[in-house]
Amino acid sequence: MDNLTRFSEFSVTPLVGSTTKWSCPSNIALVKYWGKKSGGTQIPANPSISWSLSDLKSTTNVSILSQGDFGFEFWLDGKPKPSFEPKLTEFFQRIMEFCPWLKSVKLKIESTNNFPHGTGIASSAAGLGALSTCLVDLETAEGQEINWEKVSFLSRLGSGSACRSMFSKPAIWGESSTIEGSSDLFAVEIPSTVHSNFLNWEDCVLIVDAGEKSVSSTQGHSLLSNHPYASARFEMASRNLTSMVGVLENGDTKAFIEIVESEALQLHAMMQTSVPYYLLMRPNTLAIIEAIWKFRESTGLPLCFTLDAGANVHLLYNCEKKLDIMNFVEEQLLPYCESGRYLCSSIGGAPKRIANE
Ligand code: DP6
Repeated sequence: MDNLTRFSEFSVTPLVGSTTKWSCPSNIALVKYWGKKSGGTQIPANPSISWSLSDLKSTTNVSILSQGDFGFEFWLDGKPKPSFEPKLTEFFQRIMEFCPWLKSVKLKIESTNNFPHGTGIASSAAGLGALSTCLVDLETAEGQEINWEKVSFLSRLGSGSACRSMFSKPAIWGESSTIEGSSDLFAVEIPSTVHSNFLNWEDCVLIVDAGEKSVSSTQGHSLLSNHPYASARFEMASRNLTSMVGVLENGDTKAFIEIVESEALQLHAMMQTSVPYYLLMRPNTLAIIEAIWKFRESTGLPLCFTLDAGANVHLLYNCEKKLDIMNFVEEQLLPYCESGRYLCSSIGGAPKRIANE
């Protein structure tokens, strides 16, 4: 079956008045997606793996307003948000052939995030994940199981990292010769059992800079196409992916920390060596990283940092020693956070249907 046939299957044509509401978590990559293959749409240059963040999520309601030419209204926190329309228009153009019923409906999309705006936390993974879940739910007959592969496939066309937000286990996106079933088109759950050492972790996002990024992720990805170190990076990421899958199964916390931190620094090294180069870390990003290293060395506690495409630091830690780690955060890291802000989330979580009030 070709991809168009495979991903354009649906069981019902949604009618005017149909409505559905879902929440979807954000995610944080342990091995990073950075760079896209040329000649495809949203095809990653290397495989990546992430953890969902169950407490940082978007909730989206989609309803069919009327029949006619395709159109949509987008509302964020109860207000129209025209600045999101170009990204969403591009998303709908890309997915139209896979959801042909969209061609003759007008949608109302109402979204909220449970994390505050102006924190520098990207909401696109959670937002596009929740929207794609709603669309697939609308075209699924009652009582039938949602096609999560299609949800992930559609989300990817909105924002690559979004396709990894559908799974409570670690999610792998991108073809890897070592992972059976892995695909460039959608994410899959890690096939192995996750070791108990990694079942009780949290992510505390330390808000270093709540402002808009100077270079968007989409622009950043495109700079990999003529990057002098690109092929070495893609090979290294593929190797790290294979190692990380092994580590999540065998419970080697030390190796986990090494891969996660190296991946974060490589991501930013690629930014700093792009043509043109740019820098998204801030002095407080480095101060936090150094404080984490010092604290880890003196206590031996299992914790590490990672970064996404911004200045904020994600502190990943095993919750067994949560009290000690929270004291460390409050006493030593808060001074580096903008307005003393940080947000914590459990690891895991998948989209959830929200009952209509
Ligand atoms: C640094 O998924 O935001 O967070 O596909 O262009 O929407 P687009 O990019 P996006 O890239 C995020 C990359 C990252 C690393 C990761 O999540 O793997």
